[in-house]
Parts: sequence; structure tokens; C-alpha cells
Amino acid sequence: MIEKKKIIKFLDLGKQPLANSFLEKKNLNNEEFFYNLSIGFNPNNFLVSILNPANPKKQYTNKYAHRASQSKTMRKKFKETSIKLKNRFKPKITLEIGSNDGAFIKNFNKKKCVAVEPCKNLAVITKLLGYRTYDKFWDRNLSNYIKKKYGNINLIFSANTISHIPNTKETFDSIESILSNDGVLVIEDPYIGNVLRLNSYDQFYDEHVYIFSILSLSNLAKKSGLRIFDCEKIDNHGGSMRYYLCKINSKFKETAKLRSNLNEEYLLKFNKISTYKKFSKRIIKSKKKLINILKNLKNKNENIISYGATYKSTTVFNYCKINKNYLDCIIDTTINKQNKYSPGMHIPIISPEKGMTNKVNYAFLGAWNFNKEIFQKEKLFFQRGGKFITHIPYPRIIGKKKINNENYKLFK
Ligand code: TMP
Repeated sequence: MIEKKKIIKFLDLGKQPLANSFLEKKNLNNEEFFYNLSIGFNPNNFLVSILNPANPKKQYTNKYAHRASQSKTMRKKFKETSIKLKNRFKPKITLEIGSNDGAFIKNFNKKKCVAVEPCKNLAVITKLLGYRTYDKFWDRNLSNYIKKKYGNINLIFSANTISHIPNTKETFDSIESILSNDGVLVIEDPYIGNVLRLNSYDQFYDEHVYIFSILSLSNLAKKSGLRIFDCEKIDNHGGSMRYYLCKINSKFKETAKLRSNLNEEYLLKFNKISTYKKFSKRIIKSKKKLINILKNLKNKNENIISYGATYKSTTVFNYCKINKNYLDCIIDTTINKQNKYSPGMHIPIISPEKGMTNKVNYAFLGAWNFNKEIFQKEKLFFQRGGKFITHIPYPRIIGKKKINNENYKLFK
């Protein structure tokens, strides 16, 4: 019998609030929920996970803020993905797990798909459009119910959802039992390769219970009778991997792309704790350097704001204790984030029209994964001498002259 080794903690990101718990002014003095965000590595299955995941019922409520369809980039990407999957697999019936506001499933014929979304405020959007949407958490019961009603499913798609569900065994068992024999499961989630290369420790927040590698996801899937046969690196959400899985005895052959990406994972030692310990050291340095940059600028009375009230920036600000002493405000185009306050550090969030004034000299890139779009948009800011601050892949200032060098390969 293999002795069960313990999960090894390698990173402590301190006391953190829930990443999307933006506060209204009237609640600023209420007690806020904090938990300790620690990250660990399991030497048995090579899985990287947060050590004390929150209760999903507290996270995915009828007040869930993220709306995939509000991003032009995501609408375009989901449309392209749906075309690609329809052409390659020609599914008779498709199921989406975690359909959010329908950004992906809206590209399918209403009669040929089923959607699952536990946040009722989001599920109602596709329901009203006539899509069969179940506002429930994905589990064994729901899988059995859908199977009884619609039969086996040929294509299951799930973007930025599987990594959010603590119980991977039940999740994959329930998928395996509903998937047709030649069916395909396609998963997209932030990739550990990008986190390690970009030092993007801010990919760790309460919703990202797991940051998968091919190695770790293979091990989890295998336990439920599934295997990965293909994968693709994609640039969504700061660098993700798209995994294609099927039943263990299915017809699909492992692709050369899967083998080469898997080889790369062995080469880069994603299966060794030493890799994650080195990463942790880089993150401690990153924190010190970012605080130093901000302190030096504040000593010179510079006006600094943050660009994008992202979940990722909740992790950065609470880990580095970056508050209103450093940042005047956070600007964000999302209306339901505006006029609120950032979780934990209580930095005011306002519209770009109000916040991006001529007085602003520096802007921290909270939404660093949209850097190209933002640099394009902010040409005038650069022209008048404005500069960005980023911590990706290491803390530094980016001015007009450096912008051309900024096409660093974020997502190679
Ligand atoms: P996300 O990384 O979780 O998708 O969040 C990105 C956030 O950044 C979202 O709230 C919208 C905001 N944002 C802006 O405010 N201005 C921009 O130009 C871009 C690209 C994003």
C-alpha cells in the first residue's frame, strides 16, 4: 500500500477576504470575513491547491459579480471556441458546467444544450433566453437527473469552474457517468506553468481551489475513469490550459501536443516540491520590491491609482498590505463594482472617467492580463508621462519608452 504523504505547504499569502466581496460604504465598519490563504503541493498527485477552501455555498450566491459576457474579449473567445468544438466533435447534445451568464452556451442551439450554473442571478439570464438552465451545484444528484432527462452527453464544456470545486472526485465521477462512450470533456482553467513563469501568485484566491497542471489533472481524472488526450495553451485569464478528456477506453488517441506539453512539465519539474519552494522565495521578493516601488513614489508625492478591480488584485493588496496610503482609488469599467470598496483594504472603486484624471502619474496594473488592451487604450496617459506599475513577472515601472519591450511573451 502506498503511504499517503501529506500536502506540503509552500506559500503563505496571509489573511485574505473573499476576493469578490466588494463592500458598500454603509458596510465598511462591519466585521469582514478573513481566512488564511496558504498554498500547498501534494507529492502523491502533484496537485497545487489552497489549503483551506471556503464553502462554495458562501461564494457562489445570487450576488455573484463576475459576468463573462461583459468582456468583449471573452465573448469573442467563447464564440471561437464553440465553433472549434462543434467542428471537431459534432456534438448532438452539449452540457456546460458553470455557464455564468451564457457567454459560451449562447453559441449553441437551445434544443441541443443544457446549462448548469449555481449562481441564481446568472442562471436566470440564460433561463429567460430559453436555455435549459439548472441553477444548482454540479454533483452526483444533478448528473443523474440530467442523464435521466436527456440521456448521455457528447460534449461537456467547463471553463474556470472545475478548479473552483473542492470535491474533485464527485465532480469527475458525475461527469464520467453522464458522458457518452465517445464523448469529450473540455476544461479550461488557469495553468500552473503560467503562474510559475509569471510569478502570478495573485492567481491564488478563494475561488481558485486548484491550479492544475496536465500531470495533476491526469491523476485526478484517472481516479474517475477519465484520461486527457489533448491540450492547448490559451491566453485566457492570465494564461490557461484547455484540456480534452475522454473515458479511459475511448477511441481518442493521445496527441503529440499533449506529449510535448507533458514532457515540458517533467523538464520544468512540476512534479517536485523544490519548484514550488523556489517560486515561494520569488514571491516574498516580489512583495518587498512592489512595496518599495510604491513607497518611493509616495515619498515623491506621486498620485497612484490601480487599474481594474480584479479578484487577483485582492490577493496582491492584502498580501502586500497596499491600502489607501498608497493608492488613491481603483478604476473599473464594471458598473456593479463602481462606488464600492475593495475587499480587505477598502480602497474606493470608481469609474475610469472619474478616476483617470490628469493628476494621475502612475497606475498599478490590477488587470495585468489585459495589458495589451489597456496600453492601447491609454496612449494619452503615456504621452503625458504617465507610467504603469506591474508585479508581473517582477515588480517594475513601465513608461512610454519601455512599452515596446513590453510585448514580453506572457502566454508562451
Ligand atoms: P478579470 O481579470 O477578473 O476578468 O477582471 C478584469 C477587471 O478589469 C474587470 O472588472 C474589468 C476591468 N477592466 C477595466 O476596468 N478596464 C479595462 O480596460 C479592462 C481591460 C478591464
